[in-house]
Amino acid sequence: MGKIIQTAEELNFDVRSTPAMPVARRIMMVRPTYFHVDNPINPHMRKADGSLHVLDKPKAMQEWDGLRTAYMNLGLQVFEADAINGLPDMVFCANQSLPFLTRTGERKAILSNMANDIRNREVPGIAAALERNGYKTVALPQRSAQTLFEGMGDALWLPGYRVLLGGYGHRTHKAIYGSVAELVDATVIVFELANPRFYHLDTCLSILDGSSALACREAFTQDGWELVKKVFPNLIEVPLSEADSPAFACNAHCPDGKNVILQAGSKQTVTRLKAAGFKAVGLSTEEFIKSGGSVFCMKLQFF
Ligand code: ARG
Repeated sequence: MGKIIQTAEELNFDVRSTPAMPVARRIMMVRPTYFHVDNPINPHMRKADGSLHVLDKPKAMQEWDGLRTAYMNLGLQVFEADAINGLPDMVFCANQSLPFLTRTGERKAILSNMANDIRNREVPGIAAALERNGYKTVALPQRSAQTLFEGMGDALWLPGYRVLLGGYGHRTHKAIYGSVAELVDATVIVFELANPRFYHLDTCLSILDGSSALACREAFTQDGWELVKKVFPNLIEVPLSEADSPAFACNAHCPDGKNVILQAGSKQTVTRLKAAGFKAVGLSTEEFIKSGGSVFCMKLQFF
């Protein structure tokens, strides 16, 4: 049965002594055919004057192709789920589910209860794509304020281990981690997100390998930051200026424990990544950052 850890004191064992779980190696993406910035549900979607960002659609299509190519260049297989007309954020396909493996190796995925009504309509499409790829999908208790959960926007696997890191406070309710821990049968370490500009855990924490991560201190509570430091002996701090939009450096993705794909331009983060032995792969996701998302949100890593 899953155990929930909330503070550094409660983490009185080495997370890397927990049972192993294989790392997910497949990538799913949703083409930005119907992508739009017209449903403002996070602070990054508006300009300083309050108006919505204006999208350059051809540039968005190019950036998406660039990310897809970057994954293929790293030798990863990219699967596509169909975009749906009228669902402007479906391109951010990290959020509708949490894929996992059972202890006997069965592929399953928890389906999200998304906070926004329009976004919640994306869930069946991703569920169908996962089912076509060999997954059994499982539902959480019925959607309500206390059961909100936004999949791999807030819940991130520690690569190689049966350990899940979960953010809460904006899109995901803390209470749902009881059900999540039971379903995935793993240790769940939870973090309160203190700053609305970092509304998903994947906007302020990028797990690079089983002991390394990028993270932005300002997104966490003091207790949460102590816990981040305890989980990751190799913690690379990202300055607020590079974690916030328009840089979004913590929304990076390291699919293989070596290459870190991120929005180009975050100099300090790149210097620190290189010093820690990682390879930075910079590309442009500017049109998606106008919607509050970058590399990590634009794909689902599945087993
Ligand atoms: N506009 C989308 C939203 O606010 C962006 C989602 C980005 N995804 C992420 N995992 N951070 O829901």
